[in-house]
Amino acid sequence: MGRAPHDRHAQSVSAGLAPASADPESESAYDSWADIYDSIYSYVRADIPFYVGEALDSAGPTLELGVGTGRVAIPTAARGGDVVGIDSSAAMLSAARRKIEALGPSLGTLELVAADMRDFDLRDSRGAERKFALATIPFRGILALMTVQDQVRALRSVHRHLQPRGRLAFDVFVPDPYMALEQSDVPRHLRDVTDPETGDSYVLYQQTGYDFYNQIVSVRMLIEELDGSGAVCRKMYRDYQLRYCHRWEIHHLLRCCGFEIEALYGDFDRSEFDETSTQMIWVARKV
Ligand SMILES: C[S@@+](CC[C@H](N)C(=O)[O-])C[C@H]1O[C@@H](n2cnc3c(N)ncnc32)[C@H](O)[C@@H]1O
Repeated sequence: MGRAPHDRHAQSVSAGLAPASADPESESAYDSWADIYDSIYSYVRADIPFYVGEALDSAGPTLELGVGTGRVAIPTAARGGDVVGIDSSAAMLSAARRKIEALGPSLGTLELVAADMRDFDLRDSRGAERKFALATIPFRGILALMTVQDQVRALRSVHRHLQPRGRLAFDVFVPDPYMALEQSDVPRHLRDVTDPETGDSYVLYQQTGYDFYNQIVSVRMLIEELDGSGAVCRKMYRDYQLRYCHRWEIHHLLRCCGFEIEALYGDFDRSEFDETSTQMIWVARKV
């Protein structure tokens, strides 16, 4: 393993991303995250109103790729959105189902499907391909695809499932040249997190290594759980990988896969993307 990137990237790469699993029935690298994902990423909130707003502004159902524990899909359905979420991790989907059951029928329409975002085929009860007004890939889920070929397959599958002029919204972090200087085997403090739901506290460290040729970052996160007295009561390691992408790479990828670019924001407040941005929030439209 290499070293962790500096703060800006440490936050960026902490998406819990891992290699895509080919078969939705097989074990996913995300399975090991399912029990702690919502607590560890409880500090990630700014994207939720953005994606909820996109769904409610769309004249039709929303498809979320890599729905995970429903962190975004559940608030979307709770606000009246009609959502289908797909994911290749059985454990992440089980965590989402438990939350949905606990919320009861008041939640609204949220359907979960075990499927691989690189190649999926969603059909209605009459066998017709389902079409969506909006597809979303929140929290850098597209970076879980380790090759350009996988990204193209996913974008083509999305394209097929969109209504005419349907939209795709997703976010990724902006890669930074400082990453090259910051590899190390020494775990670096990333942040302290207290889950507002459970009150559980964690201290997060990470080691990060970069394969600049293939644009793959490998992260080992060391998670220390604290008891009420502040003593470490549990220590866990979780690994993930992601393939980081540059601005014009995504621009051309979208265009090659049949999308026109409607907006590129630098933040979830819809501020314009510029040279200071640390995130890219893309909104594209099916041509
Ligand atoms: C970073 S998490 C995002 C989860 C959720 N969208 C959120 O915002 O919290 C990425 C999710 O993508 C899923 N995933 C990764 N590769 C996938 C693939 N090839 N097909 C479907 N889901 C995949 C993972 O299981 C994980 O739940």
